Amino acid sequence: MTTAQPTKIGIILGSTRPGRRGEAVAHWIVEQSAGYPSVVDGSVTVELLDVAAFDLSLLSEPTIPGAANRKYENPATRTWGAAIDALDGFIFVTPEYNHSVPAALKNAFDVIYPEWGHKALGLVSYGADGGVRAVEHWRAIAANAHLMAVRGQVSLGLFTDWDGDTFTPSERRDGELRSLFDHVVSVTNALAPLRA
Ligand SMILES: Cc1cc2nc3c(=O)[nH]c(=O)nc-3n(C[C@H](O)[C@H](O)[C@H](O)COP(=O)(O)O)c2cc1C
Repeated sequence: MTTAQPTKIGIILGSTRPGRRGEAVAHWIVEQSAGYPSVVDGSVTVELLDVAAFDLSLLSEPTIPGAANRKYENPATRTWGAAIDALDGFIFVTPEYNHSVPAALKNAFDVIYPEWGHKALGLVSYGADGGVRAVEHWRAIAANAHLMAVRGQVSLGLFTDWDGDTFTPSERRDGELRSLFDHVVSVTNALAPLRA
């Protein structure tokens, strides 16, 4: 009898700034998801990946990542690529910087390519206006790597979901996150034949 493999979801912490708000958001996602039935019963696993910890250099691969066949020159790129390859779906924790995506996460996205393909993406953003402009940009960026962003999103407001520097998500956010998470899992499971 074969045992089904769990669906592996990566929470990608995309801000690298000292004092970043993203860290509390990423930990909230990990803590919330730990109580979801699919995680409790082991059919889904959740892993936190901190872009800062991978110490990626600004795109310095001589071969275009889409043409490199996963053979990257930089050890840090190979480590990052292997970590993304091992996951089935993602939730990006993204701030909005100057009305768009944060450079560190965009660079982490750009340095690899096939590792993202035929997987699902959920977007949890934050900013003065919920980071919604960054999310719209991510939708276009992700599509280019066959990474399928689900329709829902969690848009956290700096003035409504924080009390000063302390992350205090509004009550409705738990339900929004649960819905986003479930969609990422169901879409990425549906895409599994394309990854095979
Ligand atoms: C370089 C930079 C640009 C920013 N641009 C925006 C912006 O366009 N829209 C917005 O709502 N907030 C903007 N902010 C404020 C961020 O939403 C806020 O600082 C948030 O905490 C950043 O996420 P982080 O703490 O995880 O780095 C900007 C912050 C930085 C550092």
